Amino acid sequence: MNDTLHQLHCFGCGARIAGGEAQPDFRCVQCGDLFEVEYPGWGKRDGHDRPNPGALKWLWRERRCSSEAVDRSGVWRFRELLPILESFGNVVTLREGNTPLYHLKRASKALGIDQLYAKHQGMNPTGSFKDTGMTAAMSVAKERGFEWVACASTGNTSAAMAAYAARAGLRCLVLIPEGKIAWGKLSQAMDYGAVTCQMPTDFDGCLRLLTEVVKEAPIYLLNSVNPYRLEGQKTPAFEIAEAFGWSVPDHVIVPGGNLGNSSALGKGFRELQELGLVARMPRISVVQAAGANPLVRSFKEHQGTELEPVEAHTRASAIRIGNPASWRKAARVIQDTGGWCLDVTEAEIAIAKAEIGAEGLGCEPASAVTLAGLKKLRAQGKIASGETVVLVLTGHTLKDADYTINFHRGTLLTEDECTGLEAEIAGLRRDAVAVDATPAAVLATLKGSVQ
Ligand code: F0G
Repeated sequence: MNDTLHQLHCFGCGARIAGGEAQPDFRCVQCGDLFEVEYPGWGKRDGHDRPNPGALKWLWRERRCSSEAVDRSGVWRFRELLPILESFGNVVTLREGNTPLYHLKRASKALGIDQLYAKHQGMNPTGSFKDTGMTAAMSVAKERGFEWVACASTGNTSAAMAAYAARAGLRCLVLIPEGKIAWGKLSQAMDYGAVTCQMPTDFDGCLRLLTEVVKEAPIYLLNSVNPYRLEGQKTPAFEIAEAFGWSVPDHVIVPGGNLGNSSALGKGFRELQELGLVARMPRISVVQAAGANPLVRSFKEHQGTELEPVEAHTRASAIRIGNPASWRKAARVIQDTGGWCLDVTEAEIAIAKAEIGAEGLGCEPASAVTLAGLKKLRAQGKIASGETVVLVLTGHTLKDADYTINFHRGTLLTEDECTGLEAEIAGLRRDAVAVDATPAAVLATLKGSVQ
């Protein structure tokens, strides 16, 4: 691990420690808060560690044509901005990142926002944005000689961790809330060879438990409390800025669960600005499910200065989190960038997910909160038609096929949840129809659907 170029800075009390001095639970011994990775050389004017913006932009683009694994990775392509390893020979990569930025044609038209895009992080190797963080923290685990890694998860972190651990030749332990994660994700952890414990508690309970376990055994914790995870997860900010010719969109909208992702993207944009690669930061807004909205409540009741955990309920199981670890970091990102923190209902999530599906993209329910949130912000007049907006879609549609099928069959939402939205929902549902195995029956179905 490269302790000469980086250090860890406590988000709560400001203490600074070397990377190797972190506790197994990544909490500060002084105040209990989380750390952020910091690169002291960047602060020095003309310091020799301070990257040169023009040279970097050229180098990062050139690497896209290279055949080297570290260059092909959309995380390590930007390695000058995450010098956390002693040797890049220790990189564990599945060629993550370099995900597409799609124009959302239908939603653009419906909302009257021309420049509306989706950064689809579900197009990563294990189907979620977690891969960008996992390549970074797993590489640190490997370099530091750990044999075991572990995480608590609502499914995607465990899928990503299991895959990267297998690539690194490390063993991995997964703690998941029993019956509360989507099958696609559980099947990945099994397939990649994780030791998976399903437990009669929720995500918050699993994370609490794991924090105790890592203090007793030499296991490297790979939840987003691990600051190296966020170093990988900040790189989509670089890709977004690069895609806009090193300007930034006006607004980036992110789902909020444990709140590592919003924190990481905020850090990424902040560093680009500090290093002179972009002139300003976008507004960053965080959207939660109404039944799992502790940060929304924190803003309503305490202006984002205190957070009371809630018991979380939402069908968007990825963000069924009541006590988010990185809430202070995320609150600062929202405040610093002038973003908003809002929540959306189960029906709004389901409708938005079907609309993203109808764009030919699809995403998992937790990702769809971004479009649902955008619709609300637009209706409240908080986003103008001329603004450029990027929604961060965090997971692939195949992660939670049960949710999608239930929506289209009409068995997902309760009558109460649908009240007032029946027509909108009916217009989006596309259930499969049983027809006779004859051309005439197929043609009749076709005729019916044209009408
Ligand atoms: N979207 C998806 C698809 C997720 O899997 C998660 C988190 C989030 C959004 C929220 O991101 O936690 O950084 O605010 N999933 C975690 C997991 C908690 O265990 O896979 P966050």
